[in-house]
Amino acid sequence: MNNDDFFKNKIGIIGAGNIGQALALKLKEKKVTSDNLLVSYNGSIFTFSNLYDKDLVDNIADNSRIVDECDIIILSVTPQQFSQIGQFNLNDDTLVISFMAGITIDELQKQTGSSNIIRIIPTGPDTICDETAIAGAYPQQDITDYIFDLLGFDVYNVKNEDELKYMSVAGCLPAVFTKVDLDTNLDDIKKFAVDFPDFIEIAKKADKLKATENKDEFIKSFMTKGGITEAIINSLDDGDSLYDALVAGLKRNDELS
Ligand SMILES: NC(=O)c1ccc[n+]([C@@H]2O[C@H](COP(=O)([O-])OP(=O)(O)OC[C@H]3O[C@@H](n4cnc5c(N)ncnc54)[C@H](OP(=O)(O)O)[C@@H]3O)[C@@H](O)[C@H]2O)c1
Repeated sequence: MNNDDFFKNKIGIIGAGNIGQALALKLKEKKVTSDNLLVSYNGSIFTFSNLYDKDLVDNIADNSRIVDECDIIILSVTPQQFSQIGQFNLNDDTLVISFMAGITIDELQKQTGSSNIIRIIPTGPDTICDETAIAGAYPQQDITDYIFDLLGFDVYNVKNEDELKYMSVAGCLPAVFTKVDLDTNLDDIKKFAVDFPDFIEIAKKADKLKATENKDEFIKSFMTKGGITEAIINSLDDGDSLYDALVAGLKRNDELS
C-alpha cells in the first residue's frame, strides 16, 4: 500500500487512554486528517480533560459511530473492558488492530466479526510519543507494516500468536528497568528467554528506554489497571527476583486471555 491509500482510510481508536491518546497524537502528527480520526472513551472527566488539552475533543465519537464509519479500528481498551463493549458485527473489509494484551485473535474475531485482525504489543505510551517503541506483532501484513513504520515502531514479527505473550512482558521492560538494573539481572533475563531468545536483544533495547527522571510517573504510564506491568512491579515490590516477577507477568497475561 502506498501513502495515498493509507491516508484515505478513516481510523477509529476505541479506548483513548494512555496508549490510545499516544496513538491519536502520533497519527495526527503524521498528517492523518482530523476528519479521518475518531476516538472513544468511557466518560471519565479526567480523560476528557486530557483529550481537551491534546486538542482531540473534535475527534471524540461513540463506539457505534467508529464501528459504522471506520476502515481501520484500533482497540486500546483494557482486556477487562473489551468484553463489555459487545458485538461489533464487522466484516473483513474492516482492519482491526488490537493493542490489548491477552485477548486472542480467535476471541477478537468472535466479538468484532472481522477476521482481518492484527495484534501488536508495544512498549508504553511515552515510547510511542517519542518514536522509540519496540513492539511485537502477529500476523504480518503489508498495511500494518506500513502503519507501524509510519509510527516509528521497531517491530518484531513473531512466529506465532503464542510468542506474543513474551512481547506482552517485553512491553513492560522500560518500566521494569527504571526500577531494577539490567546488568546485574542479566542472568534472570537469559533464563526467562530460553523459549523466546529474541527477548535478550529486546531487553537490551528496552534498557535504553528506561526513565532517568520522573521515574514514578513513567512507571505509572505503563501500568494499565490489572495489567501485566502492574503484576511485574507488584512482584518486584514483594521482593521477588526479576525472573519470578517476569513469570508473574506471563501468568497475568494468561489470566487476561
Ligand atoms: N500502558 C501500556 O504501557 C501498554 C503497553 C502495551 C499494551 N497495552 C495495552 O493497551 C491497552 C490500553 O492500555 P492503557 O494503559 O492505555 O489503558 P487505559 O489508560 O486504562 O485506557 C483505557 C481506555 O479505554 C477507555 N474505555 C473503557 N471502556 C470503554 C468503552 N466501552 N468504550 C470506549 N472506551 C472505553 C477508557 O475510558 P475512560 O478513560 O473514560 O475510563 C480509557 O480511556 C490495554 O489493553 C493494554 O493491555 C498497554
